[in-house]
Amino acid sequence: MPNATTTRTGAATSLEALPGGHVSTNCAFAVEFVGVGRAFASEKKRGARGVMYPVLRDVSLTVRPGEVLAILGTSGCGKSTLLRIAGGLDSPSVGSVRIDGSPVAGIDARCAVGFQEPRLLPWRTVAANVTLGLPAGTSRAVGRNRVAELLELVGLSGFAEHRPREISGGMAQRASLARALARNPGVLLLDEPFGALDALTKLKMQDLLLDVHVAAPTTILLVTHDVDEALQLADRIILLGYEDGTDKEEGTDVADRTAVADRTAVADRVYGATVLQELTVPGARPRDRGSAELAELRGRLLAGLGIAAKSTIPAFPY
Ligand SMILES: Nc1ncnc2c1ncn2[C@@H]1O[C@H](COP(=O)(O)OP(=O)(O)O)[C@@H](O)[C@H]1O
Ligand SMILES: [Mg+2]
Repeated sequence: MPNATTTRTGAATSLEALPGGHVSTNCAFAVEFVGVGRAFASEKKRGARGVMYPVLRDVSLTVRPGEVLAILGTSGCGKSTLLRIAGGLDSPSVGSVRIDGSPVAGIDARCAVGFQEPRLLPWRTVAANVTLGLPAGTSRAVGRNRVAELLELVGLSGFAEHRPREISGGMAQRASLARALARNPGVLLLDEPFGALDALTKLKMQDLLLDVHVAAPTTILLVTHDVDEALQLADRIILLGYEDGTDKEEGTDVADRTAVADRTAVADRVYGATVLQELTVPGARPRDRGSAELAELRGRLLAGLGIAAKSTIPAFPY
């Protein structure tokens, strides 16, 4: 829900305005993708005319304020590109993105981004790294309180003065999440944030993200290639991919044909990836990872990713 912190440039001032240094975390914006497409120029051969190859095509989607939307898709289908476009780190070739009703034009201060690697500065303490995420102009006193609050939220209160090399990968990722939240973002963009963690740490981080979302119910766009992660965390899941028949040359214009000839290995991208499936995940979180309902959705998503789900457990001996 929009509140005092929801103006585009007002985050820093409203942080200061809140009494007692307590920072509101009730900031969540709608994100609308309207007919978004993105094409990149293929590498130019000497003297040759550069050609464009589409990566994304006609992505239209509305993410509600406070919703957790998972974006699934095979490697290279444009998930990170879509996330970058949402945050204004890249711009669409066609279409537009609106956050809280106003267009994204350039890097958008309403968003915070988290990546697979924690990207902490090694010479700074954990607390000092989190401080980097505070909006410009935050006073020292407010900043100190906010950082302490966030470190507590991600369970790192005892590690504020440690350097990144002195903490585990999971802890570093928690520090990175705290840094992203320091801005009190209206939209949190997470690009495979747990992709590099071991299986157990990953499950713990997923639980932590749910706790964080309860405490700070911001809108989250979560890119993942992990179907179970999407089912556990998301309100809704979209699957990006190529529509049937879009690997055919038929119907493409001359420029597209050149692109195909140029990049035969990626001929299935003649039209780019788009939203193939959109699923609402039932049940309140945390969800039972073993539920039959989720198993059915898992099967559908895996099939959409081109992986045949085994419907039966093979009989012994196997
Ligand atoms: N800045 C860029 N210039 C050229 N090609 C790019 C650029 N960014 C991404 N791509 C290409 O777009 C495609 C999709 O990339 P990406 O969004 O990173 O996929 P994903 O995150 O789904 O693995 C890839 O083929 C990638 O090489
Ligand atoms: Mg990616």
